[in-house]
Amino acid sequence: MDVKTVGVIGAGTMGRGIAYAAALGGYRTILEDVMPETLAKGMAWIKQSLDEGVSRGKVESSSRNTALALIETSSSVENVCREADFLIEAVPEEMELKLELFTLFDKFAKPEAVLASNTSSLSVSEMAEMTYRPELCVGMHFFNPVPKMRLIEVVRAPKTSDKTIAICREVGSRMGKEVVVVKESPGFITTRVNALIGNEAFAMLEAGIASAEDIDKALKLGLNHPMGPFELVDLVGLDVRLSILEYLHSTLGEKYKPNPLIKKLVAEGRLGRKTGRGVYDYSSPSEPKK
Ligand code: CAA
Repeated sequence: MDVKTVGVIGAGTMGRGIAYAAALGGYRTILEDVMPETLAKGMAWIKQSLDEGVSRGKVESSSRNTALALIETSSSVENVCREADFLIEAVPEEMELKLELFTLFDKFAKPEAVLASNTSSLSVSEMAEMTYRPELCVGMHFFNPVPKMRLIEVVRAPKTSDKTIAICREVGSRMGKEVVVVKESPGFITTRVNALIGNEAFAMLEAGIASAEDIDKALKLGLNHPMGPFELVDLVGLDVRLSILEYLHSTLGEKYKPNPLIKKLVAEGRLGRKTGRGVYDYSSPSEPKK
């Protein structure tokens, strides 16, 4: 199938980033969310990111204008399904929600449409089982912040067809990303490694081995990580990381058992940048502090 229209379900952090990349890739893009204010925020973010791309010389101003003209919004999953050749869901990481969506995809999407999930760890097969077309179901795992991150992990479930993988490669490349294909398994490649590093960092902090700042500094300057593990978990969300760890613990075993400190911070509502406080405090305009 020749993909012309990409439908993105969920206009949160990841959905709006995916819509940005799809529109810049020249696809007609429909961004859906049930919350009008999330859609409005998503569109404002997309415009701002395109402007930033132009001012940094990464996006031509004509491409910015074309991309903006290619994006539409919708509050109806059903309508998006009817229009899209490539559907990507980017709703919160709750299997129930994903299963509901794949049921709707199967009911309303075009017969040839690819049905993709942006899940960062959950089973694509389970989602595919909600449909009569598992060969068209696949994972397309993007990274935050999408405009700056170059990878997509394409997740191949046992029944995903070669044709679907080929379409994902083509779509990913038009979005300006590099693609790796990974066999379905909990956490794929990146989430699995990242979860371990992050959990180990919490274990060191809890044991008083070093301060959060020094652990971050050590990984940035000693191992050339672009961000320290605490800066990163504050960006991703401690709640998101905790639920990933819980899932990996239940599927891959003890080494993924969430450190008690991350559980404590989540219970206190310290979820990261989005709540103004995670490992670091972002509530004052000055530099974040622990
Ligand atoms: N559009 C296009 N390109 C843009 C852009 C835009 N709007 N804004 C910036 N860029 C380009 C920049 O020009 C720059 O390009 P060059 O490297 O070619 O110069 C590049 O993007 C990086 O931009 P910055 O200079 O602003 O970036 P930085 O050096 O400050 O680094 C960062 C920012 C990329 C976020 C870096 O800190 C980083 O890589 N951090 C780690 C992030 C990470 O690990 N994310 C994954 C989280 S896990 C996840 O998302 C999935 C999950 O499963 C939970």
